[in-house]
Amino acid sequence: MRSRVVVSVGMALMLAVAAVRGGDSPGAANVDREKPGAHDEPYRSPIALALSADGSPLLTANQTAGTVSLVDPIAGKVLHEVRTGDKPAGVALSRDGHRGAVAHWYGYDLAVLDIQGDRIAIAGRVEVGPEPRGVTIAPDGSTAFVAVGVSNEVVRVDLAARRVTGRLAVGREPRGLAITPDGSRLLVGNSRSGDVSIVDVQRWRVERTLPIDGDNLRQVTIAADGKTGYVAHMRNRKFATTRRNIDLGWVLGQRLTRVPLEVDADANGSSPSYSTLSLDPQGKAGSDAHGMAVNPSGTLLVVSLGGTHELMIFRTDRKRLPWRDESSRDVMAAELLRNDGRFRRVALGGRPTELAFAPDGKTVYVANYLADAVQVVDAESARLVRKIPLGGPKTISLVRRGEILFHDAARSFNQWYSCNTCHSDGHTNGLDFDTLNDGRQDLSTFHLRSRKRVPTLRRVTLTGPWTWHGWQTNLDDAMVESFTKSMQGPRPSKDDVKALVAYLGTLDYPRNPYRQPDGTLSDAARRGQDIFRSARAACNTCHNGPEFTDGKIHTAGLEESDDAYRGYNPPSLRGLYDKDPYLHDGRSKTLRDALVGPHNPDTVAGGSGELSDQELDDLIAYLNSL
Ligand code: HEC
Ligand code: HEC
Repeated sequence: MRSRVVVSVGMALMLAVAAVRGGDSPGAANVDREKPGAHDEPYRSPIALALSADGSPLLTANQTAGTVSLVDPIAGKVLHEVRTGDKPAGVALSRDGHRGAVAHWYGYDLAVLDIQGDRIAIAGRVEVGPEPRGVTIAPDGSTAFVAVGVSNEVVRVDLAARRVTGRLAVGREPRGLAITPDGSRLLVGNSRSGDVSIVDVQRWRVERTLPIDGDNLRQVTIAADGKTGYVAHMRNRKFATTRRNIDLGWVLGQRLTRVPLEVDADANGSSPSYSTLSLDPQGKAGSDAHGMAVNPSGTLLVVSLGGTHELMIFRTDRKRLPWRDESSRDVMAAELLRNDGRFRRVALGGRPTELAFAPDGKTVYVANYLADAVQVVDAESARLVRKIPLGGPKTISLVRRGEILFHDAARSFNQWYSCNTCHSDGHTNGLDFDTLNDGRQDLSTFHLRSRKRVPTLRRVTLTGPWTWHGWQTNLDDAMVESFTKSMQGPRPSKDDVKALVAYLGTLDYPRNPYRQPDGTLSDAARRGQDIFRSARAACNTCHNGPEFTDGKIHTAGLEESDDAYRGYNPPSLRGLYDKDPYLHDGRSKTLRDALVGPHNPDTVAGGSGELSDQELDDLIAYLNSL
């Protein structure tokens, strides 16, 4: 808790400096893209969408193209597309459809859009903080709320004045958020702390934080009556990745969770704080639950699953759904598999992400990242009725093939998960798993000793040898292991491996938010750098070179007698501020915990004397800036 506050204050300072400089963000020129079919036609990769209250227009946030498309979903065509910034991740639209906002995951800003007829114009831009994703606009159109993933905040933006008017600390890595129709409450899904925050908008405070036993929280939706929130997510079940465990739903599974937004004072705490539906039919699971939408009458619930390329449709009007209160089933309830119309699956291909219901209460719009399209599904008849292409190259590049493989759960045993499930968006979901990559698995029920933290894949092609132990010296071979052992799926072809490695080569860190706006180190970080290199701390004997790893194996005091490989490879220290928890089993929640505890200079550099509190602060300031 304490460290979260410290992080937020540090971020706020950096942002204040950036704002004084004019809040400029790189690569955000307002360049129209009006020539589909041009030579350098980019993949669009819509990751998010927003629909106006009367059902048109619709906006998509196109992640790899850096653009927003204005779509007439009824005519089924793109009206306009503008370049807005670096990796759009979330988009919102005012009820009247005239004001839009798009959050840039790597640009750290929110672009405010004016929409008139068939044109989008960028009205301005506001710096909001590192790695913003979800965004929503208040019903009166005056204010936007943005989930900022690295500073763990919801940021309030006055859209007319285009400035930040409030920051509120929530859980770790907030991603999705939604507002009630009366604008009184926000529901925020915190992807890495596995909880939701309910925010009282008027009083501007977190009313409740509710753990929901979930991980990888994605789209958050609120029903039309404003009383119930929903979030699509994964759940880590922590058992070893054997086929038996996977199929029992004991490794991980997908969930839809329902949260009552109002606490019923009369119920004396007897009403459940949340209820869950398991989304994995045994033998043919769901994977990477992402989008969630509910129709105005609440009779249809739809969930998109990126890894299994599908939409799951649940009907609530004939017979109630088997929600389970404050826990969940290992696999989908058998009663839903009896074809009584309550549960249907629609194959969509690609990677379906965010969803929205049209006002008719039966048409669902699907942003499909890998299909470069908005798909239109009739949820009544469970049919894909139309595809609205957003543009893209005619042929599939090697990198794109790799990206497709990375997100494809068909490559895992009974399609339970994809690379993206653990290495979310090419990074890490902050969890640990017991894969066979470390040469051992703990098959006893109560001892979970052989677990390893999911490493980021950013710049991974440059940081061999691979795995925590560093036993793997060939990245191509590592890919084969990932498919056959982590995923328990079929062996990849040589071409698959080539494509996947090409895709991994594109993954990089976003700009470091702890650096000064001109990219240099703060005074504290500069002092920390001296300590890092000093004979006393001697960090750079192992963490050296451009990626802060020497490519060798060391014993640094964290070995166990039954390790299958001796020692560990110093991990890259880049982007440390967003790699928590730390060390191979995630035993240290913060950098400070690691450096005063298991990885203190005394232990790793050999009895050279303790660092003072000031020196430790400076060292951490430096580590955060890498
Ligand atoms: C169930 C979660 C899970 C899935 C699914 C998964 N990984 Fe991993 N991955 C891990 C964990 C945990 C490690 C660390 C293992 C170790 O070091 O022993 C890892 C390690 C790696 C590494 C080595 C990184 C480094 O810095 O040493 C690469 C590369 C990698 N995974 C790629 C992939 C790819 C590609 C896929 C899909 C084919 C995939 N992973 C699927 C959890 C997963
Ligand atoms: C003897 C070699 C060695 C020295 C010296 C060393 N490290 Fe490490 N470092 C490692 C190894 C090996 C690991 C992985 C250990 C593990 O997780 O079991 C590691 C892990 C870390 C991590 C965790 C990274 C993550 O992603 O979880 C941090 C942070 C770190 N080192 C910082 C430092 C600092 C700061 C110093 C100097 C005070 C230092 N190290 C000195 C070898 C070393």
